[in-house]
Amino acid sequence: MTASPALSRPRGTRDFAPEEMERRRAAEAVLRATADRFGYREVATPTFEHLELFTEKSGAGVVQQLYHFKDKGGRDLTLRPELTAPVLRYYFAELTARPKPLKLYYLGNCFRYEEPQSGRYREFWQFGTELIGPTTSEAAAETVALAHACLAGMGLRGLELRVGHIGVLKSVAKALGMEDRDRQQLFALVDKREVAAKEPEARAILSKYAPSASVEPWLALLRDLGTEEATRERVLADHGAVIAAQPELQKAFDVLGETLQLLQALDVRGFREDLGVVRGLDYYTGVVFEFHSPDLGAESQVCGGGVYNLAELFGAEPVGSTGFAIGFDRALLALQNAGGALPAREGIAAYIVPIGIPARAKALEVTTSLRAAGLRVDVDLMRRGPSKCLDYANSIGARHAVLLGSKELERGVATVKDLRSGAQKEVALAELATALGARP
Ligand code: HAM
Repeated sequence: MTASPALSRPRGTRDFAPEEMERRRAAEAVLRATADRFGYREVATPTFEHLELFTEKSGAGVVQQLYHFKDKGGRDLTLRPELTAPVLRYYFAELTARPKPLKLYYLGNCFRYEEPQSGRYREFWQFGTELIGPTTSEAAAETVALAHACLAGMGLRGLELRVGHIGVLKSVAKALGMEDRDRQQLFALVDKREVAAKEPEARAILSKYAPSASVEPWLALLRDLGTEEATRERVLADHGAVIAAQPELQKAFDVLGETLQLLQALDVRGFREDLGVVRGLDYYTGVVFEFHSPDLGAESQVCGGGVYNLAELFGAEPVGSTGFAIGFDRALLALQNAGGALPAREGIAAYIVPIGIPARAKALEVTTSLRAAGLRVDVDLMRRGPSKCLDYANSIGARHAVLLGSKELERGVATVKDLRSGAQKEVALAELATALGARP
């Protein structure tokens, strides 16, 4: 009988096997320990939020992908597509009095209604951080360094780190007085490096705002920002006149230059300056960055972040905020593709095998005392014979089998079989925990 499709797993979601969960937990432990070393502390927020939290500032891309619904009270809610807006909601509601800088991290599931493909899911996990308070280049640089340390700690290699400043593009939009929709459309072209290929589209948008004589210089600047060589030096050399007339643009250049220098002090190497980094979310205001993995297909971005502003959304005074999120599933996929996935956990220390009816209760007693000694042990619950029990113990990767027969019990001993070497020896029950590796 085949189950009805309505009972199958929803598209874009996954089930995780025990081995996989063990690998995920090991990777999570690395991420938590790394954030911990940088002075961050963990927070958690709800899985669903009011719809408005994401519709105002997150940008059109994310809004289209929301899993929103009405609850029984008629409220518009949505599963969270990310955690920056929720963490900042929490901050402005309850944490503003805390000393600054406030360093928070989280690991949680996110939901986006996207077309599923390799590395792109409808439910996925993010490990992220938010640094609240400082507005300095040191804060931006340390955030990049933390993301770098997290990814390196997971074992990811050969990543491409692109660092830019969204203020460059935003000041172009501001100078031209562009409306949000046009701005987002134009930025998307820069992000996808399509300004040259879709020049008529870009020109049509610019023409709505710029006097006809200045459309071409703006277009040329945007075209160059969306290329691999979009460094400050290059852009200044080719568009100095446009830039000199925009003090905000000049300031963005300075902040980016300072941040890149600090990255060297933080031992982050091999990054690429890239003024075309746009980011999908609309709340960024300053330095922005992305890590891409060579071991993934089209969805190569394993981490993204930057300096942002969400204070207006909460009607609050601006506060410095910088953060990033690692696509946890994507990072693990990149590791696996590179053959470097974290090893699954070792099997249990021992499998306890009662032989005959009288030994059953004693086996439970021995198991309990071994567990109390801190060992990972399991016991036969299926009343199987010794050879079936040994097959099972081998199949779950148990290190030893402990055979308890009535003759052994009379003498207060057990037979311990090393399942790797096959060697067998008798051990007094009082010594069993130590023989199986328990720490005194
Ligand atoms: P984001 O770039 O939208 O940024 O997402 C961060 C990471 O989540 C991406 O780099 C990607 O690895 C992963 N990701 C996104 N969508 C999916 C998906 N459908 N399936 C699998 N992985 C995905 C943010 O969410 C910001 N909140 C980051 C941030 C924190 N900025 C400041 N603070």
